[in-house]
Amino acid sequence: RPRVLSGIQPTAGSFHLGNYLGAVRQWVALQETHDAFYMVVDLHAITVPQDPKELRANTRLAAAQLLAAGLDPDRCTLFVQSHVPEHAQLAWVMNCITGFGEASRMTQFKDKSAKQGADRASVGLFTYPILQVADILLYQAHEVPVGEDQRQHIELTRDLATRFNGRFGDTFTLPKPYILKETAKIYDLQDPAVKMSKSASTPKGLINLLDEPKATAKKVKSAVTDTDTVIRYDVAEKPGVSNLLTIYSVLTGTTVPELEEKYAGKGYGALKTDLAEVMVDFVTPFRERTQQYLDDPETLDSILAKGAEKARAVAAETLAQAYERVGFLPAK
Ligand code: TYM
Repeated sequence: RPRVLSGIQPTAGSFHLGNYLGAVRQWVALQETHDAFYMVVDLHAITVPQDPKELRANTRLAAAQLLAAGLDPDRCTLFVQSHVPEHAQLAWVMNCITGFGEASRMTQFKDKSAKQGADRASVGLFTYPILQVADILLYQAHEVPVGEDQRQHIELTRDLATRFNGRFGDTFTLPKPYILKETAKIYDLQDPAVKMSKSASTPKGLINLLDEPKATAKKVKSAVTDTDTVIRYDVAEKPGVSNLLTIYSVLTGTTVPELEEKYAGKGYGALKTDLAEVMVDFVTPFRERTQQYLDDPETLDSILAKGAEKARAVAAETLAQAYERVGFLPAK
């Protein structure tokens, strides 16, 4: 079985619809066909300031949501990044073969550090992508299921793996991004020019999966469309409507042309009302399942402990090989 690996940050609290459609949904599907490793990336989370209590709670919350979304600990390996110390260890090695200029070109760092003010951004935020490189290479992943915004980090992973292999001998598998075209980028419901994200200027365009279903329905009904009335998929001319069609299509398994036909001659109101209902039907059981996992932290923690043990077996083998190649003296 080919191997996949991916990760999600715990910081946000609730996952948003972009996280789910862009990534987590694919994680669930890939556990059937791949040897799958998925993690909650708490080491990445502390690249920006975190409240310790909230970080711990959000880490469990993220794991609970992943299980609620359909990850099955019998079919995949689900773990917390800091439970596997090899991530930080390999990251150090990869830091030392990365150029300063190369790291400076990472667009996500540029965006995030601009938001925080360059002087306040941590060195951890700067080396964030290199930790992600280590995450992926440790598991010799063939594919990495993510949204479009992660593509550059996977390209960096390939570059650094190629460099390491060239310098020290074949060690790492070169991973490919696994990005589904339809859901690569889910847009903000109020501003369909930007991706849906926690850092949106208004919460009205952000669908948090754990919000009150009623609030979610309201957000869908007040989504920005355009002054036209025709329901047609056209990202350039009708980004708002196209985004709604994508979401509707993926959540119901109906194709976009089928939806265009269904809503021919009907207004945006009909589309939004129906999509609001689809969304409520999706988030209601999701919230309930998440709560069930949270109500039983012992079971949750034991799933994560088993996951960490399985992950560590793989990660330790790769790290040992990398250490040996680099020329570290083995500890007796
Ligand atoms: P994170 O936590 O920001 O996001 C988790 C996943 O959600 C996807 N995503 C989206 N997809 C489509 N439309 C959107 N609007 C949208 N917003 C978010 C992201 O692309 C991501 O796949 N650096 C990563 C976490 C990470 C990782 C890794 C991923 C750490 N190590 C190793 C893969 C492999 C991140 O911050 O994702």
